[in-house]
Amino acid sequence: MKKIRLGELLDIGKSYFKSEKKLDNKMDLFFKNQFRGDFIFTNRGMTAIQALIEDFNLENSEIIIPNFICSDVFSNLFKHNNIIPKIVDCEKDSFKISLKEVKKKITNKTKAIMIVHTLGIANNPEEFAKFCKKRGLILIENCAHCFHTKYKKEYLGSFGDASIFSFRSKEVRSFVGGMYLNNRRKISEKVRNKLDKFRYKREDLIRAINIFKISNLLSKIRRNVAPNAKFSNVGKKHEIYHIPKIGKALFCYHIENMDILKKKKMALKLYNGLSNKKIKIFISEKEVKEFSARSFPLMLKNRAEVYDKLLKLGLNPGKGWTPTFSENEFAKKKWNLSNTGNAEKYSRELLTISLDEINDKNIAKIVELLDFHKNKERL
Ligand SMILES: Cc1ncc(COP(=O)(O)O)c(C=O)c1O
Repeated sequence: MKKIRLGELLDIGKSYFKSEKKLDNKMDLFFKNQFRGDFIFTNRGMTAIQALIEDFNLENSEIIIPNFICSDVFSNLFKHNNIIPKIVDCEKDSFKISLKEVKKKITNKTKAIMIVHTLGIANNPEEFAKFCKKRGLILIENCAHCFHTKYKKEYLGSFGDASIFSFRSKEVRSFVGGMYLNNRRKISEKVRNKLDKFRYKREDLIRAINIFKISNLLSKIRRNVAPNAKFSNVGKKHEIYHIPKIGKALFCYHIENMDILKKKKMALKLYNGLSNKKIKIFISEKEVKEFSARSFPLMLKNRAEVYDKLLKLGLNPGKGWTPTFSENEFAKKKWNLSNTGNAEKYSRELLTISLDEINDKNIAKIVELLDFHKNKERL
């Protein structure tokens, strides 16, 4: 993730000392321009999903969900709400799940289908919306990886009955924050009241410290101490916390300074550089032009080696995907899940390059490095 410069820190500080009402209005307006539904801001994407579960009474049901997902987050949510995950594999050479496979998992206990626009790539929201409407199922759009992304004429997040967003180090670099959007009706008083009950006072301080990369340092230590650690701890239930003021300030700073067009241009340049060298790319040109993700995905058999070399180029690539549902020690045992194939392979091979970090200079170096490794893999 790109480091925050001192100038940026001062701007964020200025934003923080604005009145909270001003920050609230700015965030409200930003989303009201995109969505017609009712929304609330939470401290995480995870707590936004907890709000959604309670708002739609999804406890004690079955939910269809991609196997390729942050399984530690969902194991916690599903365990504490007594929900059974019905996992679906990714399609070949794609993060998407297909409606055909989803249909095979529906039972009379299924209440909802969750599609995830992984890394900003839309998972056929129109097709799923039409199907769910016909079958009386709830369509949840997981927009944790996409932000302000138009798909055809609407923004991702407006196709489902409900959607969730995360502002934490994914598309928005806010370290804290999430949003729950109900496109069907007003969010219940039960959920709104809970939000007011749980205001996490210490969060501002914790998140402010995090700006100084404490979490990066901790994960570096973890990577060295236990490089192959598997997440299996589901922890305690997450209540629906309010977004703290620092999250609002960081969010407002982000929307004032975001440059989606520049990011798209860089993604396309990297795409063209790689395809000129005939390096296999996991996303299509159309998806690169459409998406607004933070990261560019690559699939690499020799991921560890490439990862180390990218670090040496001064980049901070991502390879830390939490295990798929079927590989999560807790989930596997609790719900008797078996492997699905593609998802496990992708989670082993996926390496992401942050679009914030690439520029004309290092694109050439990245292409050169991947070209070298492509030839090595062939030998
Ligand atoms: C697809 C997906 N959904 C939900 C979440 C949860 O978001 P948060 O980290 O803000 O709780 C994540 C987090 O990694 C995610 O990747």
